Formats: sequence, C-alpha cells, structure tokens
Amino acid sequence: MRVLSGTQPSGKLHIGNYFGAMRQYVQLQEQGHECLYFIANYHALTSVNDRAELKELTTEVARGYLAVGIDPSRSIFFRQSDVPEVCELAWILSCVTPMGLLQRCVSYKEKIEQGLLPNHGLFGYPVLQAADILIYHSHLVPVGQDQKQHLEVTRDIAKRFNNEYGAVLTIPEAYILKESAVVPGLDGQKMSKSYDNTLELFEAPETTRKQIMRIVTDSTPVADPKDPEKCTVFALLSLVASEEETEQWRRRYREGGMGYGEAKARLAELMEELLEPFRRRYNELVKDPDYVEDVLREGGLKARQIAQGLMEEVRSATGIVTARE
Ligand code: ADP
Ligand code: TRP
Repeated sequence: MRVLSGTQPSGKLHIGNYFGAMRQYVQLQEQGHECLYFIANYHALTSVNDRAELKELTTEVARGYLAVGIDPSRSIFFRQSDVPEVCELAWILSCVTPMGLLQRCVSYKEKIEQGLLPNHGLFGYPVLQAADILIYHSHLVPVGQDQKQHLEVTRDIAKRFNNEYGAVLTIPEAYILKESAVVPGLDGQKMSKSYDNTLELFEAPETTRKQIMRIVTDSTPVADPKDPEKCTVFALLSLVASEEETEQWRRRYREGGMGYGEAKARLAELMEELLEPFRRRYNELVKDPDYVEDVLREGGLKARQIAQGLMEEVRSATGIVTARE
C-alpha cells in the first residue's frame, strides 16, 4: 500500500497539525506502509509571497516532520520542487479538467474570503494536488476533512484521464483523519495559524506554559461542577493524558471543587513531556542544516525516479514527444 501526503510550508507547525495530521503520518510509517511525505512549496506560493519566508518555512516544516518521527530510512521525505515533473503533469491533467469541477471547490472560495489573491494558481490548486498524488501511483492519501473535496477532484480527474487515454493512472483513496480530532486553540475555536490561537510545537517551554495558563475558560466558581466537554483545557488534556487520567479529570470536573488553574498546571506538565523530545530533536536539526538538506535531496531523488517512470507513460499515452537523450 503506497501512502502519500503533503504539507504546505505556510506557517509554523502547531499542536493541531500534530494531532490532526503529523502523528497519523508517523503511525502509518510505523505500520510498515511505503510512505511518501513532502513539503508542498509550490502550493505555498499561493499564500506566501515573500522569498525569504518561503525558503525558511520550507526548511522549518521539514525539520518539524523529522523531529516528530518521520524517518527518512523508512519513508521517502522530500520537497515538492525537487520533482518538477509534477508541474508538467498538472498541465496535462488540467487539459482533462472541466472548469465546473474547479468552480465547485469550496476551498477556493474560502481562501478568497480570507484575502488570498484570486489568481490562476489558486484556482488550479486542486489540479497540482491531483498531480502530486497521481504521479506516484499513490493508493492512500491521509488528509484532514478539509481536503476531502480535493481528493474527490483528484479521483475524478484520474478517471477522466484514464477514459481518454487508457488505464495509466492509479485511482487513489482518501483516508480522512477523524473529524472528532479537531484540536481547539487557546480561545476555544479550532486551533489554526489564521486565528492566532496556536500552541506551537517547538516553542520555548516557558512560552507554552504561559500560553496554557491564559487559555480562555468560563467563570464557574471553584466549588461548582463544570462541564468537561465544553472546556478547552479538558479537550487538550485528553490528548496528552492517559485514558485513566482523562477519566479522573472528567470526574473531578463534574464533582466540582476543582479550579481550572489546577487542570491547566497539569496540562502544561503533560504537554512538556510530549514536546520536550520533539524540541530537543528539532534544535539538533537547526544546528545541522546539511543533514536536513541531504535528507531532502535523497528523498527527492527517490521520489523523482518514481515520477519520471509515470511521466514516460503519460507522455506516451498523450502523444507528447520529447527529444531522446
Ligand atoms: P492551519 O489551520 O493552522 O492553517 P493547515 O490547514 O496548514 O493549518 O493544517 C494542515 C493539516 O493539519 C490540516 O489538513 C489538518 O489535517 C491538520 N490540522 C490543522 N489544524 C488542526 C486542528 N486544529 N485540529 C486538527 N487537525 C488540524
Ligand atoms: N492541500 C494540502 C493542504 O493544504 C496540501 C497538499 C498538497 C496535499 N498536495 C497534496 C495533501 C497531496 C495531500 C496530497 O493540507
């Protein structure tokens, strides 16, 4: 089973990214699947227009994935731009993609509402994503709920291509990461860099602790019973505490006699247990940029080899001729 997923280097990684996506990527790797994970820097051009920022975020996100457990000896880990063939495939796929299919994509409309420029790249974003997936004959694509429509578009495009030119492309399946796993941010909304409510993964421990102490809670007096299901602190605690401990906190919330400060202090402690080894590894990687670069280069070479094989088939199926080397 070949697993593939990509992450845009469009901001600093946070706890929501970890529990919503990165942790599952590591689990799929541990289960022994053939995994390809990449940093989608071409896609990030739709939202990051500063050259230095895009370069820096690309490296930061790469370090982040390595720090939480993506193992380059087991997974192919690479930069999207080290396989420029995806752009070629995206063009070919765009010639079998009806306008209506892209016009129905809600993420385009949402991004325009958030203030992104309504350019051709943003409109064609799902076609490049389809190319990312199809170029490696991927079977399974783990993504958040928000990407479900892009996976449907990918399947649709692949079927249209195969109908037109023969069965060249593998039709992938989405593996939708649980919706119930939406991690709340410091203000109780979904944790997201766009809401400025994140707990970053590689922040100094003191900063994370202070942010946890500032999490918004209601003003129920200490003595009164509290509803754990409506509390951000509890939601975050249940991600890092054992099942047993989570159950104890649930009981204590309901019984009353417990203040939010106490739950926050325990959350800060458990969060630090999770984050400390990640931060240590991340900081080692900051000091060793050559290692990160080597990993990405080698991953890129492996990924590119697969992509070039597929592109030969695609060119031959479509009648695109290139000079023989
Ligand atoms: P952001 O919302 O901060 O811009 P992204 O959209 O770049 O984050 O997130 C990349 C992936 O991380 C998403 O597809 C989703 O799977 C996961 N993710 C992000 N935020 C959360 C969250 N609060 N809860 C669960 N998963 C999340
Ligand atoms: N669009 C994805 C996101 O924003 C990132 C992405 C780009 C991707 N190409 C992909 C995800 C291919 C899965 C497969 O999260």
